[in-house]
Amino acid sequence: MSERKTIYLCLAHMSEEGVEQKYVKEAFDTNWVVPMGPNVNAFEQNLADFSNKNTDGSMLDRKVVCLSAGTAAVHLALIACGVKPGDEVIVQSFTFCASSHPITYLGAKPVFVDSERETWNMDPELLEKAIIERKELTGKYPKAIIPVALYGMPYQIDKIMAIADKYGIPVIEDAAEGMGSRFNGQVLGTFGRFGVLSFNGNKMITTSGGGALICRTPEDANEIMWYATQARDAYPYYEHTAIGYNYRMSNVCAGIGRGQMTVLDDHIAHHKHVQDLYRELLKDVEGVTLHEQPADSRYDSNFWLCAATLDPSVKIVGQENAYKEVIKSAVGGAAGVIKAVDSAVTDCQPNDNVEALRVFMLDKKVECRPVWKPMHKQPVYADAVAYVNGVSEEIFKVGFCLPAGPYVTDDDVHYIVDCIKEAIVK
Ligand SMILES: Cc1ncc(COP(=O)(O)O)c(C=O)c1O
Repeated sequence: MSERKTIYLCLAHMSEEGVEQKYVKEAFDTNWVVPMGPNVNAFEQNLADFSNKNTDGSMLDRKVVCLSAGTAAVHLALIACGVKPGDEVIVQSFTFCASSHPITYLGAKPVFVDSERETWNMDPELLEKAIIERKELTGKYPKAIIPVALYGMPYQIDKIMAIADKYGIPVIEDAAEGMGSRFNGQVLGTFGRFGVLSFNGNKMITTSGGGALICRTPEDANEIMWYATQARDAYPYYEHTAIGYNYRMSNVCAGIGRGQMTVLDDHIAHHKHVQDLYRELLKDVEGVTLHEQPADSRYDSNFWLCAATLDPSVKIVGQENAYKEVIKSAVGGAAGVIKAVDSAVTDCQPNDNVEALRVFMLDKKVECRPVWKPMHKQPVYADAVAYVNGVSEEIFKVGFCLPAGPYVTDDDVHYIVDCIKEAIVK
């Protein structure tokens, strides 16, 4: 029997025909090996066409600007919303750090808002409470609101937009994980003033690294593009009236993106299929609950990652050894360098049985990762203002993510669920 390969959470997956390589080759053949060019323009058009098409056949008219990363997209969206040092920006606490870090790049302050239980995304009631209270306490409204489509799940965008409009605050949708997820037939990222997409190697489609900003108006798109290319004024020499950034997407990367657009629908369908299979296979596994979208038919998640929770009463093989050893290497596909630590524990971490499950699955060559640790529990944000209801912290303790990308076969899902069953002490 051949040895089983590790099943990762979500890996880059190229088209069968290698269309990506055709466009990359074109970039080389025509010497457009720069951060602009025909692939960038065409990829932006492809993304706009995709984002503008509602399922009922109606069309929107959003523009898309390709950038070097989703993080850069968050950063520039904040600048375009006028965020300055000392300003406050409301952001979902239950997220990856790239949703909130760019706020601090600008010397502004994140105000974290907790999640509601159904979608695990920004709680609209807490959002309104935060807006009202910040105005009372600081005399100013927060400059922007950033809801996040966690693991692809649509946020309660109807309620969030109604509140944002009531107080005249722009919304920056962080749809980095939610590419192609829809609410009421409309693609996430097209509701707010800006929508963030990421094409990192683990996302719904990839450009190796890259991102994009969906913009409501051509003026916004133009301004974003200006900031992304060092903010030059129209003189024959380099004249600057604002601080810009080098954030444009490479024409080589955009070639990969153009090719990936041919498989985007297939990828989304595959992620949904994997979620369906987990549902079927996990339904009788006591103590394991798959995170599902609300029954309300307006929610249409891309199920970028399949997330689940483990009841604290479930005992996992090896649980007595959880958190006994200080970790020496990157866990969970972390790229680059991680800082060495001298403690195996923090004051807010997943339950012992969740950690034991991660270790058990790793031994079975399955990547099973904790859900994002809420930003308001991160040491780096210890002084940040947070409006909490306990939901994200509670889910962090019991939640975990399972592999879901296009490389995950039906056989893999069967194997993964069998491993989970084996991990549970009867
Ligand atoms: C929620 C969220 N926001 C933003 C980003 C940032 O995207 P990028 O990695 O392309 O900078 C990511 C993913 O990496 C993400 O998961």
